[in-house]
Amino acid sequence: MKIFLDTAIVDEIRQAASWGILDGVTTNPTLVAKAGRTFKEVIDEICSIVNGPVSAEVTDEHAEGMMKQAREYAAWHRHVVVKIPMCEEGLKAIYQCKKENIRTNVTLIFSPNQALLAAKAGATMVSPFIGRLDDISHEGMNEVYIMRQIFDNYGIETEILAASIRHPVHVIEAAKAGADIATLPFSVLKQMVKHPLTDLGIERFLKDWESVKKLSLNKVPA
Ligand code: G3P
Repeated sequence: MKIFLDTAIVDEIRQAASWGILDGVTTNPTLVAKAGRTFKEVIDEICSIVNGPVSAEVTDEHAEGMMKQAREYAAWHRHVVVKIPMCEEGLKAIYQCKKENIRTNVTLIFSPNQALLAAKAGATMVSPFIGRLDDISHEGMNEVYIMRQIFDNYGIETEILAASIRHPVHVIEAAKAGADIATLPFSVLKQMVKHPLTDLGIERFLKDWESVKKLSLNKVPA
């Protein structure tokens, strides 16, 4: 499963990229607002760090406006994937992007039917929002299992990108469900690295190594 970061904070992206595990980045208007920089500036810098897809979201409500933004963002960098919300106008824009060879990530997907329609219109990726479904007492990950089955039944190549991931168990579940990609907040990625037994083990090895070093120092040469 590919791992993307769901952030527009460049320092977080640099750190994750330095670990050799980062396959791409997703942003949305909320995340860009948190970064406190202009949209193009942020996307340009992210594209220079990550060797993979970087999602940039359109904000127009009509297909023509979405296409204007899609063409502009796609021209910024070859890594840009245009993020388009699931709706009737969005479907028109996805279809047009496909014709113009602009890659798309269809966002705000909450059902397998939406995923199927987005894929048929030509989406490169579909993003089911797991955490937001869980928030309303609906098992979000079940939708990913169903989408995987439908896409496999018909050999649909659109990638399933598990989004709105809130904790490390979501990541394991997304991988078990066969999601192609999971996009994570940096905090979740850091939680995945940690295990209390690993920390304890490192601490104990370092402590024991100190006594080995003392023995070597005390040894009188023959
Ligand atoms: O990028 C979209 C998605 O991952 C947002 O997550 O936590 O705001 O539901 P969240």
